[in-house]
Amino acid sequence: MPTSTLPPGPRGTLVRGNLGQFTDRRLDFFLDVAREYGDIATFRFGPRRIFLVSHPELIEKVLVTDARHYVKHFGARMYKPVLGNGLVTSEGDFWLRQRRLSQPAFLKSRVQAYAPVMADLTDRMLKAWTAGTPIDAHFEFSSLTSAIALKTLFDLDDAGDRGRFTDTLREAFALMSDRFRTLVPLPLWFPSPANRKLRRAVADLNAVLDGFIAAGKKRTGGTDLLSRLLTAQDDDGTRMTDRQLRDEAMTLYLAGHETTALTLSWSWYLLSQHPEAEAKLADEWQTVLAGRTPTADDIAHLPYTEAVITEAMRVSPPVYLIGREATTDLELGGYRVRKGYTIFMSQWVSHRDPRYFPDPEAFRPERWLDGLAKRIPKYAYYPFGGGPRVCIGNTFALMEAAIILAAVGQKFRFTYSGSGPPGLSPQITLLPEDGIPAVLKQR
Ligand code: HEM
Repeated sequence: MPTSTLPPGPRGTLVRGNLGQFTDRRLDFFLDVAREYGDIATFRFGPRRIFLVSHPELIEKVLVTDARHYVKHFGARMYKPVLGNGLVTSEGDFWLRQRRLSQPAFLKSRVQAYAPVMADLTDRMLKAWTAGTPIDAHFEFSSLTSAIALKTLFDLDDAGDRGRFTDTLREAFALMSDRFRTLVPLPLWFPSPANRKLRRAVADLNAVLDGFIAAGKKRTGGTDLLSRLLTAQDDDGTRMTDRQLRDEAMTLYLAGHETTALTLSWSWYLLSQHPEAEAKLADEWQTVLAGRTPTADDIAHLPYTEAVITEAMRVSPPVYLIGREATTDLELGGYRVRKGYTIFMSQWVSHRDPRYFPDPEAFRPERWLDGLAKRIPKYAYYPFGGGPRVCIGNTFALMEAAIILAAVGQKFRFTYSGSGPPGLSPQITLLPEDGIPAVLKQR
C-alpha cells in the first residue's frame, strides 16, 4: 500500500519552489538531487509537484508498465503551437493511430534506402571543407542533418527552399523558447505582442509546409517520408489530413535533425580529446571501408564506430530529460503519485550512474564492446526513451550518425580550438553553449 508521504527532496523557495535551480543549472541540479536524495526524489516548480526518478526499474514502470496512466509532461505540451498535434505531442487514440500510420515508413529496410542520400549530402559538405580552416562543428553538422532531413522528408534539394524553411522555423522556435522560460505563460489567444509575433511566425511556417505538401502530392512514387505518409492508410482506408501531415512532417523534422547533429558534434568533441579512440576508429575504417563512402550494409561491420556513438550518447545524451504527467493516482517506488504530478527521468543522471557505468565521466567506447548493453538493466541507458513512446527515428538516427562519422572521419580530423571544455546549454536538447569550435586537419 503506497504511503501518502512524499519522497525526500531539496527545499525550494515559497513561490517558485526549485524552478530557479532548474533554470540556472539544471544538469547539476538533477545530479545533486539524485545523489543526495536517491532513486526517487521530489521538488516543486511553483505549484507543480515533480518526482525525479533515477532507478532503471522505476523508469521502466513509468515508461512501459504504467505507460497508459501517463501523458507527456507540461514542457512537451508547451511546444504544441509549433509541433501541432504530431507524434511527439499528441496523446491517446489519436497518437496511436498516427503512430501506426507512420511506423511502416520507419521500417529498417525503408530507412536503409536513405543511406545514399545521407552519404551524398555528406560528400557535398566535405567537398566544401579545406584543411586548416576553423569551423563550428556543431553548425556544420546541424546544417548537414537539416539538409538530410529536408531531402528525406520532402525531397527538397533547393538551397533557397531550405533557407526559407529554416529561417521561419528559427523565428518560431526562438519565440517558443521565450515562452518556456516563464512560470505561467499567457494563453496563446491573449493578444500580447509576444503572442502575436509567435502566431505570425507559426502562420508563416505553416504556409511554407503547406507548399511542401502540395508539391508532395504532385510527385508519384516518391520515396521521401512525406510521400509515404501521404499514401499511408488506416485499416478503414482513411488517410492523414493535410493538417495532420503538416504536424507530423514538422515534428519529424524537429525531432530528427538537431538530435542527430548533437550526437555527431559531441562525438567529434570527445574524439578530439581522446586520440587513442580516434586512432582505433581510423583503423576500423581503413580495414572495413578503405576510403570508400559507407553504405547501410557496412554498419554491421563497424563495431567500434557503433561503440563510439553509443558512448557519446551516454556521456552527452542529446535528449537529457523525459517527462510524464500522471492521469490518475498511482504508486511508484512506495510513494503515491497523485494525478497531475510530473515525473522526470534524466538520461544525464542515469547515464552517469556508477552502479552501471564505473568511472562514469570517462569517455570509454570499449566499455560497450563486451556485451555491457545486455548486462545492465534496460533503463540504465535510454537515449531514445522507451515503451510505446520510444523514438520512432532511432534506426534512422543511428544509421545517419554512423555514415556521417565514417565518411567525415576518413577525410578529416578535428582539433578542438575552444579555450576550455564547451559550455552546456540544456534546452529541449543538450546544446553546446557556443558551438564546437574546431580546426580541420586532413586525415
Ligand atoms: C540521436 C538522435 C535522436 C535521439 C537522441 C532521439 C531521442 C528521442 C527520445 C528520448 C524520444 C522519447 C521522448 C519521450 O518519451 O518523451 C524521442 C521520440 C521521438 N523521436 Fe527521436 N531521437 C533522435 C532522432 C530522431 C529522428 C531521426 C527522428 C525522425 C526522423 C525522430 C523522431 C521522433 C519522434 C516522432 C518521436 C515521438 C514518438 C512518439 O511519441 O510516438 N527522432 N526521440
